[in-house]
Amino acid sequence: MRKTYPAAVKVSNDTKQKIVELINPSLARTIDLFLEAKHAHWNSKGKQFYSLHLLFDVVAKHLRKQADDLGERVASLGGVAQGTVQEVARTTDLQPYELGSASVDDHVSAIVENLAQHASALRKAIDRTEEIGDLATQEILLTHLCKVEQDTWLLESHLADSRPPIREREERAAPGGNGGRAAARKHPEAAAQR
Ligand SMILES: [Fe+2]
Repeated sequence: MRKTYPAAVKVSNDTKQKIVELINPSLARTIDLFLEAKHAHWNSKGKQFYSLHLLFDVVAKHLRKQADDLGERVASLGGVAQGTVQEVARTTDLQPYELGSASVDDHVSAIVENLAQHASALRKAIDRTEEIGDLATQEILLTHLCKVEQDTWLLESHLADSRPPIREREERAAPGGNGGRAAARKHPEAAAQR
């Protein structure tokens, strides 16, 4: 059992515990994404390098703030925010970020896929706050969802000339397809075959 703290917030202990358990996985994913955005900020090279170098840092800044919001919400409810690198590595459910030396497009694709996965998980967490009955946490998660989806768009727009249409990506990601993320990265070859 993890240590909890007294918290004066007038919410039942049951609700506090459920919200803390709901938020900590989002905190882990957010910290994972923050580090990924920094990694891309440092390691991307290629066309549009400088604008994307700056944009990756903007996205990282947003994620850092979001991680802080989540950690402080957990603390406000008497919980322990699980934000160590070891805990994040154990808990995050994002796809592993395996790119070291890679093109800007590959880094953008990797971050876009994980941002979209994070947004999807946030939507489920928002539904859960409805069931638990904590609109304050719902408000925090909704704000994060809007920003994450906006950042996804800002990054994804750089792939407009090098990525297949979304329907094609979804077909490839479907069972029997050849995998979403890998397929998206290989689009230039796919385009050549069309
Ligand atoms: Fe920097």
